[in-house]
Amino acid sequence: MRKSIPILAILTTQIHSTSPQQEPYTNLPDVPPGLFTSQARVEIHNTTLQAAWNALNDFSSYPDWNPFVRSALAVDAKNISLERNFPIEGAFLLMSTQIPPLPLPVNRYTPDNPLHINPAYELINHVQPDLHRLAWQFIPKEALAAERWQAVSDLGGGVVLYESREVFSGPLAQTLKDLLEEGLQASFEAQGAGLKLLLEGKGGKQ
Ligand SMILES: *[C@@H]1O[C@H](CO)[C@@H](O)[C@H](O)[C@H]1NC(C)=O
Ligand SMILES: *[C@@H]1O[C@H](CO)[C@@H](O)[C@H](O)[C@H]1NC(C)=O
Repeated sequence: MRKSIPILAILTTQIHSTSPQQEPYTNLPDVPPGLFTSQARVEIHNTTLQAAWNALNDFSSYPDWNPFVRSALAVDAKNISLERNFPIEGAFLLMSTQIPPLPLPVNRYTPDNPLHINPAYELINHVQPDLHRLAWQFIPKEALAAERWQAVSDLGGGVVLYESREVFSGPLAQTLKDLLEEGLQASFEAQGAGLKLLLEGKGGKQ
């Protein structure tokens, strides 16, 4: 914990010195700071909020566009898949991720890089259709406090903002930072780029 203080101080200074007046618009919730953060912010043109929200919720289609989360399966507490492969609060998520990400574009036949496969098991703890936000949380949270938020918002004129952020703290955070911070950041950005490619490639149609 002691190590996180200087990093936070530097981050805070940078944020304030680059945007002294106005923070940019965000649809992500305020969360307590941690040891490090992975995040992405991408404007997607010529699309709709509904199309972006549907893409994030449709886990079964992730392999078609997502260079980070190559597969995602919503399961119950016994790891039995849900009837529909969509996020539900209180369900769990079994994922296979690529950290760092695969190069874009990807489809469901794109082979994994076997050296970069990271399985993940998380609790889906927020599904907020009204706010167009989703979050899942690493378990056990006593080992690593890490909640991945994703949000989409309508900026008007056919422009949709995709945001994702995960703040890491807890006993495993330093190890994760040493091993994967750079790759995680690249993967977060790649998912945003993949979503942009998917939605702009379809010309705004669902
Ligand atoms: C479900 O799968 C995860 C990941 O493999 C595992 O950690 C967990 O213990 C499993 N839960 C059950 C009830 O088998
Ligand atoms: C937006 O999508 C429409 C319909 O698919 C397409 O005709 C148009 O060229 C696109 N516009 C831009 C700026 O990409």
